[in-house]
Amino acid sequence: MAAIALKCPRYKVTVVDVNEDRIKEWNSDRLPIYEPGLDNIIRKTRGVNLFFSTEIEKEIKEADIIFVSVNTPTKTFGLGAGMASDLQYWEKTAQAILENSEGPKIIVEKSTLPVKTAEAMERILRANSNNSQFEVVSNPEFLAEGTAMQDLLEPDRVLIGSHETESGLRAAEEIVNIYAHWVPRDRIITTNLWSAELSKLVANAFLAQRISSINSISALCEKTDADISEISYAIGSDRRIGPKFLKASVGFGGSCFKKDILNLVYIAESYGLSEVADYWRMVLKINEYQEERFVANIIKTMFNTVVGKKIAIFGFAFKANTGDTRESPAKFIAIKLIQEKAILSITDPQALRNAQIDLAGTGGEVTFDPDPYKAVEGASAIVVVAEWEVFKTLNYADIYKRMKKPALIFDGRNILDHQQLFKIGFNVYPIGKPNLTHFE
Ligand code: UDX
Repeated sequence: MAAIALKCPRYKVTVVDVNEDRIKEWNSDRLPIYEPGLDNIIRKTRGVNLFFSTEIEKEIKEADIIFVSVNTPTKTFGLGAGMASDLQYWEKTAQAILENSEGPKIIVEKSTLPVKTAEAMERILRANSNNSQFEVVSNPEFLAEGTAMQDLLEPDRVLIGSHETESGLRAAEEIVNIYAHWVPRDRIITTNLWSAELSKLVANAFLAQRISSINSISALCEKTDADISEISYAIGSDRRIGPKFLKASVGFGGSCFKKDILNLVYIAESYGLSEVADYWRMVLKINEYQEERFVANIIKTMFNTVVGKKIAIFGFAFKANTGDTRESPAKFIAIKLIQEKAILSITDPQALRNAQIDLAGTGGEVTFDPDPYKAVEGASAIVVVAEWEVFKTLNYADIYKRMKKPALIFDGRNILDHQQLFKIGFNVYPIGKPNLTHFE
């Protein structure tokens, strides 16, 4: 919405939320999320044509176009629990729109939703009105956290799905006109409603699938003399495959991949397509396997016990450049190590507040320190979980001195200079590459 406000000065954009504290934060100097470049855009647009408010009814009444971006987490109860999306917030929003609308409006579905929810939205919206009052358009979001502003200002594509009726196409054109302020017309793709909705799930499923594919091969590399970085480079040089999303890691996290694949699996199953469901389920299974074998390797390497040993976790966010920890592999790893009675010290440039919330109640001995040099004091091992740039440039000779010996590094992102670390004296355990150890 901030990008629209920035690029379309003639539009007035108001963001509404039921959560008063959040809206207060959006109206303050301390924004509720960390996203590089966002504060700059908010500073330029807030109070000019971008507003944050809790007056939901009033803003619904006044709006011509409503973007619905409410949370659609995976259901935790009842039918479809653990797989289907929980649409309760989204349905409440549809009701609020229905109750507070006096004139025709375009409803733009932004939340990631299972296919055919636009149809359900329409059913709610049309329950009490004449059929022409609301036109539902799907405009899925493809931004990635950490690069959100760049993804929004220079998107690979913008996708707009609508009914292929006259009024549907007219509504889609209205949304096209917004994006056309800054996105070249040939990058704005218009499709039917269901293709747009399904494309979002499929895009995320394909991205996640690439990571699981390379991670599965990393396990094979660890059993042979092959090196996963060399393989990624070699296969990524084939233009048909391409180099992106081929970095082996401790596993993918984030709010989208798992949720969207579970949705895809649920949809496939609900249409009786069990082979299709099984195929995508394996992408998640490999991800869990990758996280599990990473922790198992830490424990095995530390002589099968981490009881009372201090382990420094480098990075708690689900990836670099964000403070978001949703589905972060770090959480899984930390909890496993706490269960094994390790003492954890966690460092992360942005995610410590969320890390504290995530690990509250685990009963573990855990400290949180923004300074990595302090976090490693007396530690037996460092576990790199998120690929923050800052971890690459630390003085590892100094870090080595502060640690207990033998000092171990488990590089779950392959971001460090392993040869250099080995020369300093570390025993190094990368992903999908031979270990470098001083042990006999
Ligand atoms: C993703 C999609 O990229 C975005 O288009 C969609 O709108 C939302 O979901 P996001 O979850 O923000 O975005 O992060 P992304 O950069 O895709 O990374 C997801 C996870 O995969 C992270 O944990 C990341 O570290 C991991 N990853 C990514 C790898 O392990 N290896 C890679 O090569 C790339």
